[in-house]
Amino acid sequence: MSVAVLARATVVARSAPMEGAVELVVLDPAAANIAQPGQFFQMGVEAPHTLLPRPYSVAAVDPDRGRLGFLFSVVGAGSAWLSSLEPGDRVRLIGPLGRGFTPSPGAAPICVGGGLGIAPLVALSAWLVAAGRRPVVLQGAREAARLLPADRFPGARILTATDDSSAGWPGSVVGLLETVAAREQEWFVCGPTPMLQAVIGLADALGLPRQRIQIALETPMGCGVGTCLGCVTPAAAGGYLLACQDGPCVRADRVDWSRVEDAFHG
Ligand SMILES: Cc1cc2nc3c(=O)[nH]c(=O)nc-3n(C[C@H](O)[C@H](O)[C@H](O)COP(=O)(O)OP(=O)(O)OC[C@H]3O[C@@H](n4cnc5c(N)ncnc54)[C@H](O)[C@@H]3O)c2cc1C
Ligand code: FES
Repeated sequence: MSVAVLARATVVARSAPMEGAVELVVLDPAAANIAQPGQFFQMGVEAPHTLLPRPYSVAAVDPDRGRLGFLFSVVGAGSAWLSSLEPGDRVRLIGPLGRGFTPSPGAAPICVGGGLGIAPLVALSAWLVAAGRRPVVLQGAREAARLLPADRFPGARILTATDDSSAGWPGSVVGLLETVAAREQEWFVCGPTPMLQAVIGLADALGLPRQRIQIALETPMGCGVGTCLGCVTPAAAGGYLLACQDGPCVRADRVDWSRVEDAFHG
């Protein structure tokens, strides 16, 4: 794990690459030098009644220009405040935090993102391509307008699924995954809890060992550094994992999926 940096980063760009999402690019050379795909940052929020920072996966890492990118939806006061930042504004960042993805050299990498769960997979896809691999990226969204454009994944093979059948596979991204799944693959997955549980069910049915699946967990978080226990996740071995310390990227066999609850939609 890398050493986290506390910084006041400068916003260099804000855009809306797809419907329902905001992209912030910030200048933070020290963090951009060490951040790994799957790690996250605690972003300081200065809106009223928002004491805690908000955790966000790094969606782009550009060490040459000292930049980090974040991709998020506005769901409450913290994300609304972050979405209002303009180029030149400053934002407090703590990170990179947690454990990122650890792709193994042999297996074919399949990245599966549901909704804004695509964010950490953008960085992972770029990292894999830079390492000479050709990942397959499966992106699911409610509708075509909510898909991140394919040109955000240079060098990868992109497949899409939409709930309303407006683009790509008609239905869930897990249904799409079933059409390309094979045992020699390694899956990297991020999305809502029901989607994660469906991915695990599919892997079990296909005989793909859970060790070959890495999940980027998105639990509620408080501190982000292992002290508040706000991010506990049921462990397969009994007890709990801390998503902020043991994850957010964990091998799927380490989690007791039967005890995982959907903290945001349940
Ligand atoms: C490690 C990690 C990485 C994350 N990376 C990303 C990312 O890259 N992009 C991104 O968009 N989000 C990401 N999230 C989720 C993000 O942290 C939350 O959406 C954010 O903290 C919400 O803050 P808020 O103040 O806007 O909303 P709050 O006021 O905290 O919540 C408002 C409402 O939204 C609900 N809510 C909160 N989070 C979510 C969620 N993730 N999905 C659905 N409903 C939610 C709450 O239950 C509540 O009802 C990540 C979370 C973790 C733990
Ligand atoms: S967020 Fe505080 S212990 Fe994980």
